[in-house]
Amino acid sequence: MELTLYASALFGSVYLVALAVRRLRFRRDRARMTREARSGGKVVAGVGQMPAGAVRKFWLICGKHRIDCFVINYRGQFRAYINSCRHMVTPLDFVRYQFFTEDGSHLMCATHGAVYEPDTGLCVEGPCKGLALHALPVVVDHGEIVVGCPAGDLSFLREMAD
Ligand code: FES
Repeated sequence: MELTLYASALFGSVYLVALAVRRLRFRRDRARMTREARSGGKVVAGVGQMPAGAVRKFWLICGKHRIDCFVINYRGQFRAYINSCRHMVTPLDFVRYQFFTEDGSHLMCATHGAVYEPDTGLCVEGPCKGLALHALPVVVDHGEIVVGCPAGDLSFLREMAD
């Protein structure tokens, strides 16, 4: 009985500490994003760092949510998406930094193999066929790639925020 009480107190304390750390990290990242904001978004890479076929992961603070995202250079065009599959709320790169199919023609979710068009984010094969990745606005500003938050109602971010 006593052991159970100690274990409950320990787990409760760990949970509260984890919540506090998460909140502090969110505040720190939000302040950093506000400080570094440009053209309505965040600089995620230099154009020279993103040759064709390159992928870079980054995070954004959008409203009350911290979301994981990625930007790609697909045939010279920069596209950015929230890193969350449309089948289930899981990152596409379950295998770290593997976003493209072997031939580099499509994006692929490593969990169940959904295949997406890199330029539109549309799922063309797999369990979420017909749905699309959540696209983010991208601009190139003074040789840097700047990505912003999605427009409109951000409540859908709740389920995919970390
Ligand atoms: S979670 Fe991506 S295909 Fe199932």
